[in-house]
Amino acid sequence: MSSSTVTGNVTLSEGNDDNTLSLPLIAGTVGPSVIDVRKLYADTGHFTYDPGFTSTASCDSAITYIDGDKGILMHRGYKIEELAEKSDFMEVCYLLLKGELPNQAQKDKFTHDITYHTMLHEQLTQFYRGFRRDAHPMAVMVGVVGALSAFYHDSTDITDPTQRMIASYRLIAKMPTIAAMAYKYSVGQPFIYPSNELSYAENFLHMTFSVPAERYKLSPVIARAMDRIFILHADHEQNASTSTVRLAGSSGANPFACIAAGIACLWGPAHGGANEAVLNMLNQIGSVDRVQEFIAKAKDKNDPFRLMGFGHRVYKNYDPRAKVMQQTCYEVLDELGIKDEPMLKLAMELEKIALNDEYFIEKKLFPNVDFYSGIILQALGFPTSMFTVLFALARTVGWVAQWNEMMEDPSQKIGRPRQLYTGYTERPFVDISKR
Ligand code: SDX
Repeated sequence: MSSSTVTGNVTLSEGNDDNTLSLPLIAGTVGPSVIDVRKLYADTGHFTYDPGFTSTASCDSAITYIDGDKGILMHRGYKIEELAEKSDFMEVCYLLLKGELPNQAQKDKFTHDITYHTMLHEQLTQFYRGFRRDAHPMAVMVGVVGALSAFYHDSTDITDPTQRMIASYRLIAKMPTIAAMAYKYSVGQPFIYPSNELSYAENFLHMTFSVPAERYKLSPVIARAMDRIFILHADHEQNASTSTVRLAGSSGANPFACIAAGIACLWGPAHGGANEAVLNMLNQIGSVDRVQEFIAKAKDKNDPFRLMGFGHRVYKNYDPRAKVMQQTCYEVLDELGIKDEPMLKLAMELEKIALNDEYFIEKKLFPNVDFYSGIILQALGFPTSMFTVLFALARTVGWVAQWNEMMEDPSQKIGRPRQLYTGYTERPFVDISKR
């Protein structure tokens, strides 16, 4: 279901002249309406101005809805808490891509199709060997995913819906394999092939932690936690990396190149790189008695330090994913028999102090999805450098779903923002002898 309706007009007037312009007001199914400014420049010669896009809708979409004030996240109308508790990542992938939860037959076929795309072209293993062993795994992900367009030419024709879906399935299916191989390469262990009898999350854990001499012992609780972490990261409306994928796709670039661009954007510590930054921050704080020192740093305008894992452009309430992540943290640490994990105790103390501090209350800074995820991933055995790789793995389905939605939109055109120019006006060239 996707619908929007014009519900009225907004009238603009310039200065005190009676020159006015009427712009349509468009409502979606829920959430803020938009002022349609597509005619603004043609009719007035003015641009809108919104660096960082704090008040700008870049598209219409029926995939994910966020109510930042209420801390609500829904995928195709289903709340993230329900999906995390009652469904699994394959169902959420199907939901994001096709708009409805699958019945059993649809789920079985989708899972089969994804499973049978998990292997990589064998020649891609050579691609890894060009990297230094200490390369950041996100650098490897950007490179290898971009290189997929050099191998899968039969699914790069973006005008063909069948090829678009094949490329989407390939990307969702191969990201765990690529991610696990990036980890294996970094620790000098041989690559482990996927096993078709395993679930998506089980397969990823197997490819990451099995070795030829010994198969990883899968725990159903750990596999379920991994699957739930993938669900929590699957999609999130028009965040920076999704907007990057859409902008790259708007030029007609092939899907592998678009997803590589999204991975590059996600890497930043203000975005997906925050989960790695949270663990580095907790290690830097070291103990509960230094929490107040770092809270003070986070509040100091002259100190660039920010409390990583806190704050969000949209959520001005608790990120609903953070609550599920915290619960998952307890389950994983309990399953692993890790009592009183110092990092968890430190994170909980930090959260308690921050949430009672006037600065964080006034600025509506709450824990986001990245605040607890790193503690779980570290407990599972992942190095911090792999944390954002797992975020990219899970977000791939959201990126390809949003990319497909854009490609299916008949009004889609290349994204090309304008600017407020503040540089020199015209001036004569100066010969070097006179400079
Ligand atoms: C993700 O967009 C998405 O949906 C992203 C994501 C997804 O699923 O795709 O949810 C994933 O990226 C989560 C966010 C992970 N990033 C971090 O945890 C990094 C730390 N947080 C921030 O850097 C910041 O909160 C952002 C980048 C997340 C949001 O920044 P905004 O919306 O641009 O807000 P801002 O930088 O203008 O901050 C508003 C005020 C500022 O103070 P003033 O200038 O008004 O005095 O709040 C302050 C900021 O200094 N502030 C913080 C803070 N975050 C904001 N102060 C201390 N610590 C923080 N973490």
